Amino acid sequence: MSGCAFKNYGDETFKLQIASHGKDVMWVPTKIEMTHEMFVMAKIRPEDLLYDLGSGDGVIPIEAAKKYGVRAVGIEYNPDLVALANRNAERANVKNLVTFMQGDIFKEDFSNATVLTLYLGDSLNMKLKPQILKMKPGTRVLSNTFQMETWIPDDQIKISSGEMAYLWIVPAQIDGNWQFSGIPNIDNASLKILQKKQYFEGAIYEKNRHKISLENGKIYGDLIEFEFNDQSVKYVFKGQVSGTEIVGILNNESNKQVIGRRLP
Ligand SMILES: C[S@@+](CC[C@H](N)C(=O)[O-])C[C@H]1O[C@@H](n2cnc3c(N)ncnc32)[C@H](O)[C@@H]1O
Repeated sequence: MSGCAFKNYGDETFKLQIASHGKDVMWVPTKIEMTHEMFVMAKIRPEDLLYDLGSGDGVIPIEAAKKYGVRAVGIEYNPDLVALANRNAERANVKNLVTFMQGDIFKEDFSNATVLTLYLGDSLNMKLKPQILKMKPGTRVLSNTFQMETWIPDDQIKISSGEMAYLWIVPAQIDGNWQFSGIPNIDNASLKILQKKQYFEGAIYEKNRHKISLENGKIYGDLIEFEFNDQSVKYVFKGQVSGTEIVGILNNESNKQVIGRRLP
């Protein structure tokens, strides 16, 4: 009889092969090199809380804890993989930082994450997307290989084997109407914003009449930026969104403060 052709990715207690188990998608591990490249792209900080959805043998949470000392949680459907990941965490001496829980990623709460990692598939990413877009602005979402259709990545990397990973920064939700004070030459300015994920179009209205179109509208977490031209002067607004308020300045001049309030 010939020897076993399959490599055991598990341990003595649980034998694991590539493309086995899984619920909505089978188990395939993220390469260690990829975990490190993804963490650099997301600029992981020790105060982060990482969640890996479908955590398999635990490689992503364990590497994050080992390398950056971050707290990390893995949600995994298969209880044998949860137990293996816990043993792997113990062997890596990061049991104090890492938790693996048995559960379904479509039922468990991961809204506390500041970094979310995915290695799932195009359709599963799409299914998670509405929930991800409601996460805290600035949450960094990393996906090994698979994208999010119309949500353009904020960054991407390719590792030596040619595999890609993508980063999205959850944008603040600013779609709608805003009252703005501090816009030069316009007493009663309102802004209509049409948001497309981390980009937006819009216009400044004066007493409900269209006055100036916004250009290059971009949202990076809770930071927003747009430009407009008025009377041959170019203005660049940079500000921060905090709930129903946007506060910022024009052309980096601290005396040109602009404040926006969301209109009902
Ligand atoms: C491609 S593997 C990725 C494993 C790990 N995140 C990594 O990158 O190495 C996908 C994992 O998702 C798990 N999984 C599939 N559907 C799931 C679900 N609905 N809830 C939780 N885990 C699930 C599978 O058991 C498998 O371990």
